[in-house]
Amino acid sequence: MPYHQATYDEKTLKEIGSSNTFAVEKVNKPEIPERLRRKNIELPDVAEYDVIRHYVHLSQMNYAVDTGFYPLGSCTMKYNPKFADRIANDQRFTRMHPLTSPEYSQGELHIMYELQEFLKASSGMDAVSLQPLAGAQGEYTAMLIVRKYMGSIGQSNRNEIIVPDSAHGTNPASAAMAGFQTVEIPSKQDGKVDLEALRDAVSENTAAFMITNPSTLGVFESNILEIEKIVHGAGALLYYDGANFNAILGITSPGLMGFDMVHFNLHKTFATPHGGGGPGAGPVAVKDKLREFLPVPVVVKDGKKYSLYYGYKNSIGRVAGFNGSFINILRAWSYMKYKGDDGLTENTRKAVLNANYMAKRLEGILDIPAKGIKKHEVVASSKKTGKRALDIAKYIINSGVHAPTIYFPLIVPEALMIEPTEDASVEDMDLLVKLIREAIEMPQEEIEKLPVNLSIGRADEVRAARIMKLHW
Ligand SMILES: Cc1ncc(COP(=O)(O)O)c(C=O)c1O
Repeated sequence: MPYHQATYDEKTLKEIGSSNTFAVEKVNKPEIPERLRRKNIELPDVAEYDVIRHYVHLSQMNYAVDTGFYPLGSCTMKYNPKFADRIANDQRFTRMHPLTSPEYSQGELHIMYELQEFLKASSGMDAVSLQPLAGAQGEYTAMLIVRKYMGSIGQSNRNEIIVPDSAHGTNPASAAMAGFQTVEIPSKQDGKVDLEALRDAVSENTAAFMITNPSTLGVFESNILEIEKIVHGAGALLYYDGANFNAILGITSPGLMGFDMVHFNLHKTFATPHGGGGPGAGPVAVKDKLREFLPVPVVVKDGKKYSLYYGYKNSIGRVAGFNGSFINILRAWSYMKYKGDDGLTENTRKAVLNANYMAKRLEGILDIPAKGIKKHEVVASSKKTGKRALDIAKYIINSGVHAPTIYFPLIVPEALMIEPTEDASVEDMDLLVKLIREAIEMPQEEIEKLPVNLSIGRADEVRAARIMKLHW
């Protein structure tokens, strides 16, 4: 498929604007008190069409789920259906002020309550907070809960969080931010937790074990009940990184596996944008004994009436303003309602089927270190082909498809992590396999020149990270 991305010599809005000073008199209405009137606003004075064209140009120099296949593993970018956009843009929601009294916001509270109930039921937990604004913030919230809980039972000495070496980087980072020491344990060749290493690592200082199941290698941790015994036997809590919940929703649950707490990435399982035009949403759910520690408020129902409840005595306090990202909560709720229980379970089955289709098609092309049935994603290594994962990724991008995640998880050399999600078609997946094959066959000196069809050539990522230039 020939591909040439639009390229513009795009100026900044400030450069496009005829004057650097916004016409303040246009907004200085007589009803605005004198003391609040701005004398000068440093905004470019541009026509509406200038602004529209500017942002359309920028979007054309970008790549999105709406442009084409986006097989990014772990961070999962899935198609966000347009009906949810329409609901999220409905003025009855967008014009609702977050401080509107519960009497006048029963509809919003109803939606939040239903999402709380659904997340509880599907994860097998007892209580939910919708407040955290991202998966990573959900982890951090949960770590603050672990600390406060341990303090409340007189075990503040428990200052260690154990994580497997396949964990997402946000797991140890969240633990460290909450003041814990992190202890890393190795995974086995098949991607599963090394039980002996876990037994050796747990002690009277262990506060929790953080794990995602299926793991970032896309394999189900079949020893989870044994892990539960080891962790609880040591008096620690078991934390479920629910980023990969889309692989088990409707089939099993963290509650059934013995977990005490969970965070959800609403964007992964319920098709909301990863960032949601700013913050995303990473609700946290816990078992009864941790309920009192959740951030407040939560939504409660009394008869037919909904209200905000602030009464948890041991609450860790707020982790976000108001009720979190209502716009993402609304989208996730719409998706959940639209799909229904059967539709969501069907999503899980399709996501798993697609990952296994990818794994089968890649056999003989790339090495797949974790053998056996895959769950939602497949991690392959390009090491034996002699081609770097980075070069393969650039070839894919140059051909008009988003590249898979590369170099994660860290335990797989030259890793390409592919998550087709339930939305991918067979044609999408076949195209990706074809591009990987072509990349491997391409002479090294040619592939290193790519991409050439994009609005930007090959960037020096190390330099970009070290010498940041964040404006121009
Ligand atoms: C396994 C895993 N855990 C945690 C996160 C962090 O989630 P977020 O990007 O919403 O902060 C991700 C990324 O999506 C992930 O893949």
